[in-house]
Amino acid sequence: MLRYSPLLVLALAGATALQGQVSVASPDGRNQVTVQIREGKLYYSVQRDGRPLLMPSLLGFEFRGAPALRDGLQIADTTRATFDETWTQPWGEVRRVRDHHNELKVSVVETAAPNRQFTVAVRAFNDGVAFRYEVPDQPNLAAFEMTDELTEFSLADNARAWSIPSNRPRLDRSEQLYSSSPVSVLDSVQTPLTMETRDGKTFIVIHEANLVDYARMNLRGPRMDNRTLHADLAPYADGLKVRGRTPFVTPWRTIQVADRAVDLSPSVLGLNLNPPSVLENTSWIKPMKYVGIWWGMHIGTMSWSSGPKHGATTANAKRYIDFAAANGLGGVLVEGWNTGWDGDWIQNRNAFSFTQAYPDYDLAEVARYAHEKGVRLIVHNETSGGIENYERQIDSAFALYQSLGIDAIKSGYVTDLTSEGHSHWGQYMVRHYRTVIEKAAQHRIALDVHEPIHDTGERRTYPNMMSREGARGQEYNAWGGEGGNPPEHETILFFTRLLAGPMDFTPGVFDILIERGTGGGRPRRPEESRLRTTLAKQLALYVVLYSPLQMAADLSENYEHQPAFQFIRDVAVDWDTTRVLAGKIGDYVVVARRERNAPSWFIGAITDEEARTFDVPLSFLAPGRRYVAEIYADGPGANWLTNPLPVAISRQPVTRATVLHLSLARGGGTAIRIRPAR
Ligand code: NOJ
Ligand code: CA
Repeated sequence: MLRYSPLLVLALAGATALQGQVSVASPDGRNQVTVQIREGKLYYSVQRDGRPLLMPSLLGFEFRGAPALRDGLQIADTTRATFDETWTQPWGEVRRVRDHHNELKVSVVETAAPNRQFTVAVRAFNDGVAFRYEVPDQPNLAAFEMTDELTEFSLADNARAWSIPSNRPRLDRSEQLYSSSPVSVLDSVQTPLTMETRDGKTFIVIHEANLVDYARMNLRGPRMDNRTLHADLAPYADGLKVRGRTPFVTPWRTIQVADRAVDLSPSVLGLNLNPPSVLENTSWIKPMKYVGIWWGMHIGTMSWSSGPKHGATTANAKRYIDFAAANGLGGVLVEGWNTGWDGDWIQNRNAFSFTQAYPDYDLAEVARYAHEKGVRLIVHNETSGGIENYERQIDSAFALYQSLGIDAIKSGYVTDLTSEGHSHWGQYMVRHYRTVIEKAAQHRIALDVHEPIHDTGERRTYPNMMSREGARGQEYNAWGGEGGNPPEHETILFFTRLLAGPMDFTPGVFDILIERGTGGGRPRRPEESRLRTTLAKQLALYVVLYSPLQMAADLSENYEHQPAFQFIRDVAVDWDTTRVLAGKIGDYVVVARRERNAPSWFIGAITDEEARTFDVPLSFLAPGRRYVAEIYADGPGANWLTNPLPVAISRQPVTRATVLHLSLARGGGTAIRIRPAR
């Protein structure tokens, strides 16, 4: 199926290289990267339509026990290549992905001893540019201890950035609210970092791709003085950033570029920079919707620990399996099934067993029952960051799950630093997360990782790496005391976190005011424990916030006698095509997606605290075909604050000539299924 054009490689000797400056442009000519030497130092810069986007930005490394690799450099060689291939995702936001880019490799060498050398590989795509360091095996650079990667991103414009901090107020957590500010005042932030230039004409996203055996890159801001962001690698306990040996390559540093916010998504730049799947058979990896013994713990009606409220009982699990089977939902998650939850489960992280169930939960029987009902059991592995404890058990645990026919795990890493004292995001954890992906693949297990490291496109190489959290999800609304998620939250997530990859946000809570909660689970002020959306917006999130594993998060009893639940039954989780029809970061998003291998389309529209209307032309529908639109809109008088529940469900015939008029309440949304007319 793949159309593969072999690399066209031209060696460029002499002229340009000697001048110390060389460039490569994207296939459409709009994005250009220039690599140059100035006073012995190596810089890159990025231009769009001939105007500067990134000013000359430094490249290089610092080491412990060796001089920095930064000075006295000279270009030794350059090579060029062109690449054009279209590949198919086993599942995803889009089915077909085109990887069309021009590549430039610039090899540099120190003119004085120790005469070390490295190459900067640059790829220019129409949707952005990327570069990485490739360091060959060489006598004067073998084993190394890196204290810093010197990469800079020097913004030409004091663009507005939507960001979350990388280490304050909390260590190593992505579960924070976004704020926006000019680049010049950023302190220390996480990627993907989405920016809009002041003229509103260019959107820039800095992130990384193919993070393997290296440390995650955060960005250290300029703190008032200029517009230069610095790579800020997450450290080991001893402060070192990366331990390695040549030959090695760094992850790609990616700079996605678009004229409009709506063109940022779906983002495939990072996927194109990851190696193709190493799994020969991916047919067992299936997107699905799931329910779970989960929300009850967060609202205090159930407990993970043993006792009268223990959620993970065999009887409860069977009840959820029956519910999933009756409603055509693919999976059931069960948390709190394994011993180790009693007492402080974060402090006692090394006490978790990943094979031993509580006495009132029969893992084998639940797995058997799920299988009989055609439902997949999602086994939960909370590590609390006790990495050695988890790694000690992982082989036996995964073998057990496989023997029981369990092919999906939700894992968790609730902690700041690991039990070994390392950053949650340093090389130590990058290696750990990768080990888990590989071992899961060996045992035919798909993963949904909470408190993960950010997504850098691993799912292309390992399609069993399906979804992850890595931002503030629905759970924050249950806890209340933490402040919940404001109405604009998901309209920012779409243009930031979700550009990295799928998110297990866990939408679909219908009990918006959490009236079934007890407040017993965590300290919370009652007036804060609620969702800040309308019910219709909860439905729209299934289309807007992409995940191949999409939860119906509420207690199953909250779906009873709810006509709106039909949308959750119907909505697809795997897409052929995605079109972002309207969007403004922090304000609203309207997305249309066509179901994979089916003619149906789904539309999700969400807004922040403002009511909004949209006219949506259905010109993406197939010509000459008649459809029915099933519309779940905010009902009369709905608004997130005082009247979140009304949903108006209507049906109307549509064709590609139809323009749908959507009216979203404050904090509201609209969810639409468009299926062929019978
Ligand atoms: C945090 C996760 O996000 C949540 O889904 C899970 O229930 C708890 N950790 C316990 O593992
Ligand atoms: Ca979490």
